[in-house]
Order: sequence, then structure tokens, then C-alpha cells
Amino acid sequence: MKATKITDGIYRLGVNLEDDLLFEGMWPMPHGISINSYVVQGERTALIDLIEDVRDKPLEFEQELHSIPLQAKDIDCMIINHMEPDHTSWLPAFYQENPDLEFYITKKGAAMLKAFCGIDKNVHIVKSGDTVDLGAGKILTFYEAPNLHWPETMFTFEQSSGILFTCDAFGSYGAITDVIFDDQLSSEQHDFFTQEALRYFANIIGGFSMFVEKAVTQLKDLDIKMIAPSHGIVWREKPQEIIDTYLRFAGYMSGPAEPEVTIIWSSMYGNTEKVVNAMIQGVRSEGIPVHVHRVPNDHVGFILASAWKSAGLIVGMPTYEYRMFPPMAWTLDMFGRKKVWNKKVLRFGSFGWSGGAQREMDTLTEKLKWDFLDPVEWQGAPDDEDLKRAESQSRELARQIKEEGRG
Ligand code: FEO
Repeated sequence: MKATKITDGIYRLGVNLEDDLLFEGMWPMPHGISINSYVVQGERTALIDLIEDVRDKPLEFEQELHSIPLQAKDIDCMIINHMEPDHTSWLPAFYQENPDLEFYITKKGAAMLKAFCGIDKNVHIVKSGDTVDLGAGKILTFYEAPNLHWPETMFTFEQSSGILFTCDAFGSYGAITDVIFDDQLSSEQHDFFTQEALRYFANIIGGFSMFVEKAVTQLKDLDIKMIAPSHGIVWREKPQEIIDTYLRFAGYMSGPAEPEVTIIWSSMYGNTEKVVNAMIQGVRSEGIPVHVHRVPNDHVGFILASAWKSAGLIVGMPTYEYRMFPPMAWTLDMFGRKKVWNKKVLRFGSFGWSGGAQREMDTLTEKLKWDFLDPVEWQGAPDDEDLKRAESQSRELARQIKEEGRG
């Protein structure tokens, strides 16, 4: 692999993590993910973010560096926008090849640099507005961007090119092969990366949505000509598009999200399952798109993406030993951690000798700002009245979502 020249003196280097790995050790990546790094060459040379030390990725990365051509020892400055190990776990080995590296990082990042990599020499702590002049017209300006996606994160802006390097922010899942820039995407590829950005956002960034708007506001006076994240494609033709996409995703937290419904259901012996179709029919009768996931069969990483985008949720589970069917409780616990807030919600489910699922549902969703319709619950197998009620309640949910709209 060769590095890709973005503009004079600025290159993108990247490796792909494959689909058999789990991102953060838990999120499936059926289409992989790229980890991008950038070289900025003035009279001095800076490297912005690095890669994860996994499999043969460091070797691939070194080959890309050689293609510029550069060696590890040619790098003068290491800019660390984010300390998470997908961008830094290879840093200790890289540092051994070049112990004279100068580091530029936020104050919180510096503490992590010491804790994760044992590095505390030649570390320059930077704040928003601080600059580093690399010479030959290349000036880097730093902007703290806390919680995108850790507390220490920052963005780096290269003034002559107008490129904003944002690490996790404005990134997506999806391996990068021959297509690197937004203007090279076919419409199918464009849709693919938009969907991969949504799933990445829901899995990684969503819980920090309130910080997206703050970060974008801070950048409002910058003449941004490209967005270069450390996951996903480089937005050189329409950088504002990915900014707007992220603002839209972030806005789903305060609701309403898109006029769509996600049905998440689980069943032990088929009695809750028998009602799923009635729920789907009720939503569809109002012309609202519906996404359906079964728990525990579908991974929560995919369920989160559908739920994050949908204004409405229909959640079905049987009662299990006086409480909720446990895999659904685990899913809703994740919704709490990821702040899937401000939804209109309908619950349904069967119970055997006693109810109890609703009680646990109330507890688990206490802080999620969910607006509930009356649940549809029955003992044993559902009868025709239960099915009718399921369809009318899901239709009512869809109707309310349409009425509320987004805007
Ligand atoms: Fe790509 Fe938060 O690390």
C-alpha cells in the first residue's frame, strides 16, 4: 500500500481492521473499519494520530510511510488528537524507533500518554488556539474537542490547506480500499458510508452527542476545506455534508428522531413472537418505515443504529422469573449507557404465572425520557383481542410519530 497525497505536503496513511475483529472488543464490523493517520510536511514533519498495534498493521503502515518517502526517524512532531489505543497502541514501538519525537497533546491527553505508553518526554501541552509552525507555510492550530470521543480529544487544523483533522469525530465504520475521498463515491458507496457512519455514531459517539454541537460551534469561523477523520473517508468536496450529518445524528438524542419505528422483540416459546406481525402491520398502516430486530439473535451494535435513528420504539419481551427476559434487559441497559433518549415507546409481551417485565422496564428506562403508550400484555398465548389491541396500539404510536414530525 502507498500513502495517498491529499494536497502538497499532506498525505493520508491508513490500515483496515478486518471484519473478524470486534471494535472496542465488542462491536461487530462486518465491513471492517479504517484507521487513518496523516503526515504534514513543512520544514519539519508532523504525524497526526497513529494506528493500533494489531496483526501486521504496523508493517503495512511503515510501507506506506516509506512510499512518501519517510522513515520513522524523519518524523519531528507527533500530534495526538486522541489517546484511545486504536490510534496509539503502536506508539510505544514507534517511539522506540524515534525517541526524539516531540508530542503535542491536551493536558488530559498528556496524563493518558504517560499511563498508556509511558511517555512523558518532549510533551507539549496545547489548548484551543495554540499553534505549531512546521515551516514552509504549514501551520497547525489545535482545538480542544472534549468527549469526541474521550475527555482529552482535540482537533487539528492545517491553515494553508484548510484541512481539519478530527480523529473519531465525523468518522465511520467501513474499510477503505481504492476510494478515499467523498467525490469518488458512487451513490451506492455514498449510502453505504452514511449507514456505516450512523452505526459508528450510535456505537461510539452517540452518548456524547451534546458535545458535537459544541465542537462545531467552536469551529464556525474556520474556513474548512476538508474534513480528514481517522476512521472512514476524507470529505474534500463537501466537508459540510459530514458535519451536517453528525449534527443530525446528535440531534436524535434530544428528539424527535426520524419518523421511523424500530421493533425489538424476544420470545421464549413463541407467545410474544405471535404478536410481532400485528405490531408491524399497525406501524405500516400509517406508512411509517419499520426496522425489526430479534434479541438476543441480533447484536446490540446493529440494534443501536436502528433505535438511535427512530423516533419510535416497540419493545417486546416475555416476563422471566418475575422480571424481564434477561437478554432484553441487557439490551435496554445498553440503551441507557448509550443515551438512547427521547423516544415514543410501546411495550408488549406475554407472561406465565405472574407479570414483572413492566416493573423492570420502568426501572431500566427511568432516566431515558421515554414517552410510553399503554403496554399490550397478556397471560399465556395471545388471543384475537390481544392481536387487535397490538395492531391498534402500534398504529397509534406510528400516528403520534407522524404528527410530531421532525424539525
Ligand atoms: Fe477511534 Fe475513540 O477511538
